[in-house]
Amino acid sequence: MEMKQMQSAEELFQAQSHLYRYTYHFIGSMCLKSAVHLGIPDIIHKHGQPITLNELVLALQIDPNKSGYVYRLMRFLVHSGFFVTTKIDGGKEEEEEEEIMGYDLTPSSRLLLKDTVPTLSPYVQAMFHPAVLHPPEFLAEWFHTNEPTPFHTAHGKSFWDYLSQNQEFNGLFNEAMISDSGMMNLVIKDCKPVFEGMSLLVDVGGGKGAVARLLSESLPRLQCIVLDLPHVVENSQDCNNLKFVGGDMFQSIPSADAILLKLVLHAYSDEDCIKVLKKCREAISSKGKEGKVIIIDIVINEKNDKRELTESKLLFDLLMMSVVTGKEREEKEWKKLFLEAGFSHYKITPIFGMRSLIEVYP
Ligand SMILES: C[S@@+](CC[C@H](N)C(=O)[O-])C[C@H]1O[C@@H](n2cnc3c(N)ncnc32)[C@H](O)[C@@H]1O
Repeated sequence: MEMKQMQSAEELFQAQSHLYRYTYHFIGSMCLKSAVHLGIPDIIHKHGQPITLNELVLALQIDPNKSGYVYRLMRFLVHSGFFVTTKIDGGKEEEEEEEIMGYDLTPSSRLLLKDTVPTLSPYVQAMFHPAVLHPPEFLAEWFHTNEPTPFHTAHGKSFWDYLSQNQEFNGLFNEAMISDSGMMNLVIKDCKPVFEGMSLLVDVGGGKGAVARLLSESLPRLQCIVLDLPHVVENSQDCNNLKFVGGDMFQSIPSADAILLKLVLHAYSDEDCIKVLKKCREAISSKGKEGKVIIIDIVINEKNDKRELTESKLLFDLLMMSVVTGKEREEKEWKKLFLEAGFSHYKITPIFGMRSLIEVYP
């Protein structure tokens, strides 16, 4: 049967290209994975100047016969913004000078350097673990099951049980979260007013304490408690104004002037978020005066955000749908949660790129 007359051949060929681009998106992800695995960002960084293809192949200790493949991998990664090519001065007289091109880093690949702060290399590596890679493959199948998440369909248990039973992935995941939290370094100065004037803060689901450590160092008068599951906080050392407590946020949260929840609520259903938020409200009201809850999480804002930012946020939403029972929320969805948990008002400040800081008041 003939396609609708209104669609020209040109439109359909464009549609074919669009379709194939998304069909092969996963190859783009695998190229990024390979670049991290091969350590290409660090090689370029150590080289101290843009690196030629031959120098890169040598540093990678790859058979020079394969340099054509390295060229093609790099061509894609340049196209997708992870590297740039620049002209290198060959040091010859002007007339003889032939154009030599070298690969250099971009802001995205600088974030993949292993020994710099901030680095997201551990984050990217952890997200390519089979624990995270497999569940989205089961999305369609999962819709026809009674399982709570595609993660259950893929791995036969919840994400949190998998984490507590798999030391290797637990280690990778915690390192990933530490590296993600390292990005807070960039805005801690701007955030200080949010935390100033309070004496005790509990970072609920604070993992290995990366954010609490940053806060406790930059605000020495602030006492910080990290509350996380016992297997996460075990072996974490208390120091000065930073303490670790093993527990369950659904059961009890220590009383404080403020509760911080960074990347916690997006991993839970509305029902569970309301339970946690009610516990938070009790915790900040029990000292006689009313404090606040500080949330760092995604707020979907398709109307105001650039297309690429929305795409990153929507991919996170699908990640939450695939691995846990959570979701990324629009402002009106956050508002509903706050009101249902008994809070009266809130303020959203979008200062973390993809994430916003939300202050919530009783
Ligand atoms: C996505 S991580 C965020 C970690 C940290 N806030 C950060 O941004 O780096 C979610 C954290 O919530 C913790 N968590 C999950 N369920 C919990 C519970 N019932 N009680 C306390 N912490 C919990 C996890 O162990 C994990 O460290």
